[in-house]
Amino acid sequence: MSSPVLTVTLNELLADAATKMVDRKVGSVVVIEGGRPVGILTERDLLRWTASHSIDGATTVAEWMTPDPYTIGPGVEVVEAWKTLSEKGYRHIPVVEAGELVGIVTMRDLVRIAQIQSMAHPSQVEVPKGLDGVVVAETAVGHVRGLEGFYHYRQYNAIELCERRSLEDVWHLLFEGELPTADERRAFLDELLPLRTIPEVVRPLLPDLARAGDHPGPLDGLRTATSAVAQALGFRPSMDLDRATLRADAMRICAVVPTLVMALHRLRAGLEPIEPHPDLGYSANYLYMRTGEVPDSEHARAIERYQISTIDHGFNASTFTARVVTSTGADLGSAVVAAIGALSGPLHGGAPSRALDMLDAIGTPDRAEAWVRHAVETGGRIMGFGHRVYKTDDPRSVMLRGVAEQLGGDKFEFARQVEKTVVDVLAELKPGRNLYANVEFYAGVVMDRCGLPGDLFTPTFASSRVIGWCANILEQAADNRIIRPSARYVGPPPPQPVPG
Ligand SMILES: CC(C)(COP(=O)(O)OP(=O)(O)OC[C@H]1O[C@@H](n2cnc3c(N)ncnc32)[C@H](O)[C@@H]1OP(=O)(O)O)[C@@H](O)C(=O)NCCC(=O)NCCS
Repeated sequence: MSSPVLTVTLNELLADAATKMVDRKVGSVVVIEGGRPVGILTERDLLRWTASHSIDGATTVAEWMTPDPYTIGPGVEVVEAWKTLSEKGYRHIPVVEAGELVGIVTMRDLVRIAQIQSMAHPSQVEVPKGLDGVVVAETAVGHVRGLEGFYHYRQYNAIELCERRSLEDVWHLLFEGELPTADERRAFLDELLPLRTIPEVVRPLLPDLARAGDHPGPLDGLRTATSAVAQALGFRPSMDLDRATLRADAMRICAVVPTLVMALHRLRAGLEPIEPHPDLGYSANYLYMRTGEVPDSEHARAIERYQISTIDHGFNASTFTARVVTSTGADLGSAVVAAIGALSGPLHGGAPSRALDMLDAIGTPDRAEAWVRHAVETGGRIMGFGHRVYKTDDPRSVMLRGVAEQLGGDKFEFARQVEKTVVDVLAELKPGRNLYANVEFYAGVVMDRCGLPGDLFTPTFASSRVIGWCANILEQAADNRIIRPSARYVGPPPPQPVPG
């Protein structure tokens, strides 16, 4: 801010105030009475005065000033001040502490700071922990508008796509930029059908991968199997490929991931994998590969709506990871494997089975409040609730609640009651955080009702999210610059003498 501030009093002549402003080369004066700011007089007010044709040597400041000016405190952050100036269209904001005028912030001050910051060493530029709200790229794939509870794939409402389109149509939309015509759909399905099968050289590796470890994480086998596919098919660095070749790699990985998920699942249970069914769509085939039976169309459609809803979701952690790896010019397999790793965390994709476990642990509706209260009071997180971007209902959770309701069953009724209890308890114990059910809460209920066991919940999420990762990989590779931020060093001051 600038200080001391040029001030005038209410009864001073306007002409004198104008002269002071010209002499001090400032665009405003603050009008004070007893040390308190009661108005502001700006160049804009002087222009209005001269344009009014009522210029009179006796006119006072009080007649043309803007009374009760908007003020801020000295502790307000520069970014906040900048936002206020640009949102409200002001050029000057008086700074007031305990009712006393202590300075003034002007557009000129903020431009000066912006210039200094951009010149400073990058480590000086602070960003919020967790990159909360930081824009790190431009994308035409999709976006989340958290305050409105809305997200979209390209220009379409994602929830509307879940209701009205097949998964393959949405996949086409994300890869090609538009929904397919009937001919394009046929060509797309013909292209991806043979890509669903697992490469011959990878098949013999799968039994060992499926059975490795006593307590494998939900995506452990898939992570390694995806890596094996990329290696076996000879994926090359994205920076050496044209778009058509990189797209072919993306199609292959997206088509084969669901088959890998189900093959690993069956092998772990000591069963032989089932080949994809050539006549079934993406989600029906997904369920088919688990049991070998063509699924009930209601279940297939429920899973398809879930899988479409999770294809993409802004710059979530796994999508960002895929883009970071691609930005190094690495191959598409590496980017997808890294993204699978990011998705495996319980704070991201690893929550749906935990949300269902919570329902089991609560057991009956009457125990819900005490259980949730105890969990939050002892510092626990309620799985399937809260979101970095949504501060209102997550539209995916609203859609899946509807799907779960249609499917019916005791678990839905119970989940509905627990949801209400959790939202109320969190509102009381974590006021102002706006915590609601996220996509994961009803996802578990829907998958459970469609016969998918808990260990398939996160892999099912991955089976469709891979399409969103690949759309982002293609976009990143098409206009790339390596993503390489900085960190602020907070360790002991260097250089210290090296001991010994
Ligand atoms: C999704 C999530 C990781 C977002 O995290 P974030 O934006 O970094 O939010 P924060 O971790 O800063 O949380 C903000 C506050 O809300 C609280 N909070 C957030 N989610 C909560 C939850 N599910 N249960 C209890 N408290 C929660 C935090 O404890 C924190 O409280 P504090 O201000 O007293 O420290 C977080 O809400 C969470 O852990 N949810 C549970 C896991 C989950 O469902 N993951 C799937 C996501 S789709």
